Amino acid sequence: MINLPGLSGIERPVILAPMEGITDHTFRRICLDAGADAGISEFIAAEALVRLVEKSFRKMEPAHGHEIRWVQIFGNNPDAVSRAAIIAEENGADIIDLNFGCPVKKIVHKGNGAALLKNLPLMQQIATATVAAVSVPVTAKTRLGWDFNSLVATEAALRLQDAGIRLLTLHGRTRSQQYGGVADWNAIAEVKNNQALSIPLIGNGDIDCAEKAINVFDRCGVDGIMIGRASIGNPWLFAQIKMALQGKKVILPTLAQKIEVCKKHLSDSIVQKGEKRGVLEMRKHFVHYFRGIPDFKPYKLALLKAVCSEEIEVILNQIEASYNAH
Ligand SMILES: Cc1cc2nc3c(=O)[nH]c(=O)nc-3n(C[C@H](O)[C@H](O)[C@H](O)COP(=O)(O)O)c2cc1C
Repeated sequence: MINLPGLSGIERPVILAPMEGITDHTFRRICLDAGADAGISEFIAAEALVRLVEKSFRKMEPAHGHEIRWVQIFGNNPDAVSRAAIIAEENGADIIDLNFGCPVKKIVHKGNGAALLKNLPLMQQIATATVAAVSVPVTAKTRLGWDFNSLVATEAALRLQDAGIRLLTLHGRTRSQQYGGVADWNAIAEVKNNQALSIPLIGNGDIDCAEKAINVFDRCGVDGIMIGRASIGNPWLFAQIKMALQGKKVILPTLAQKIEVCKKHLSDSIVQKGEKRGVLEMRKHFVHYFRGIPDFKPYKLALLKAVCSEEIEVILNQIEASYNAH
C-alpha cells in the first residue's frame, strides 16, 4: 500500500504520468476530474527553478485547490536539485519527483534525465541530497537502463530506496528505445519481485485500455500504474480502468461528452495561457479527442487551422450536429 499524500488508502492507483508540453495544470485538472488518482507536473529544470525563472513556477501551479501537488524536477547536480526541491516545497509541493528517465537528446547530453542511468552513484547522491533537504516525500521515475547492454533498473531501485526515495515509477523501456518498441512489463515485474525492494513500484508504459491495466496489475504485482500518451484526448481512460478494476462494466464517452470536455479544455487553456497560446496548444489535443471517428479529416484540418476560440466552438458544434444527424 502506498503511504503518500493523496494516495494513502487508494488501492491500485491509476496516475497521470508527467508529460512536458501536455500535463499543464489545465490537462491535469481534466484528468483528475475524470478519475485519475493523481497527476505529476511537467518536468522542471532544477537550474531554472534555482534562478527563479517564472515559467518554472507556472508549471508548479495546482490544477485545483485540492490537488496533491506532485512536482517533477530534473538536474544532475545534487546541490542544485536539492535547492530546487526546497523552492518547490516552499511553493506548495506536496511530493517532489526526480526525473531520471527523460531520453530527449538535449536533456541527456547535459547529463540529465536518463543520462543518470549511466552514473548510478550520482543518481543516488542527487536523491540522498534531495531527501535530506525537504520534509515532503521524494519519489523518482526512471527507465530500465541506458540500453539493452546496461539494464540497471534493479540496482537503481535499490540505491534510490537506500537514498530514502518513497516510491519509484519504472517505465519499461531503455533510453535507447526512446518511445519505440514495446514496454517490457516482465522487466518491471522482475524489479517489483526483488525481495530487497520494499518501496512501492509504479509500472509505466503502453497502458491504453482497461484490459491491459488489469493484466499488468495481476501479472506484475505493481502497486500502481502510470498512464501517459493514452490519456491525451482520452481522460475517461482513468475512470474506465478504475471501474474495470472493481469488476464494473466500462462505459465509453459519447460524442457529446467529448465535445463538452474539449470545449472546457479549450476555455481553461485560454484562461491559463491567453487566447493565442491557449488555442495553439489545443492543437496537440484536438486530434486525440476525436481519434477513431470515421470521415473526420475535414474537421481535423479545420480544427488545426482555426486561430480563435469562437472559430473552434463553431467547428465543435458542427461536429456534434453532423454526427448526431447520422
Ligand atoms: C510528450 C511527452 C512528454 C513527456 N515528458 C515527460 C516528463 O516531463 N517527465 C517524465 O518523467 N516523463 C515524461 N514523459 C514520459 C512519460 O511520463 C511516460 O513515461 C511515457 O510516455 C511512457 O508511458 P505511456 O506509454 O503511458 O505514454 C513524456 C512523454 C511524452 C510522450
